[in-house]
Amino acid sequence: MNDSNALPTWVFGYGSLIWRPDFHFIESSPATVSGWKRRFWQGSHDHRGTPDAPGRVVTMIQSADDTCGGVAYLIEADVVRTTFETLDHREKNGYQRYDVELNLMDGRLQQGVVYIAPINNFAWLGEAPLETIAAQIASSIGPSGANTEYLFKLEAALQKLGFADSHVSELARQVRQIVG
Ligand code: SIN
Repeated sequence: MNDSNALPTWVFGYGSLIWRPDFHFIESSPATVSGWKRRFWQGSHDHRGTPDAPGRVVTMIQSADDTCGGVAYLIEADVVRTTFETLDHREKNGYQRYDVELNLMDGRLQQGVVYIAPINNFAWLGEAPLETIAAQIASSIGPSGANTEYLFKLEAALQKLGFADSHVSELARQVRQIVG
């Protein structure tokens, strides 16, 4: 766990933090984390659904043979504390900070912080057939907007970065079939 001391700090985004970081950073780079995969297994009560009808958002799941692609952002030392306060609030629905090793596209290896929603947190929804997940995303909406927007923006951002993720692209395909 990173204690947000006053050193420049890398943060890795693999979900909404890819396409809407909404914080100040001095450098960013496509990056991967080895041994993890992205899955729509986390419930969203506060952004893309409600407590009564949660949406689904991504978390990272440990998986030895997989690599999760996203974006690494370097936060300047003097705003590290306030940036983590803002991100802790944004990611409060079950996510915790973890330290990971980031593989930056230029070959650098950097220690970084990532928000992961661990298995069995209070908003955990877990694995389900893709059809079930697609139907839930197609029908969910919350204070930050439609769950479909989250999925489609993530799909587009990953395509732009050149990261293939069949879990995301197959869900997007199925959701398009539902919503037209
Ligand atoms: C992330 O983007 O890194 C965390 C999950 C999310 O906020 O979508």
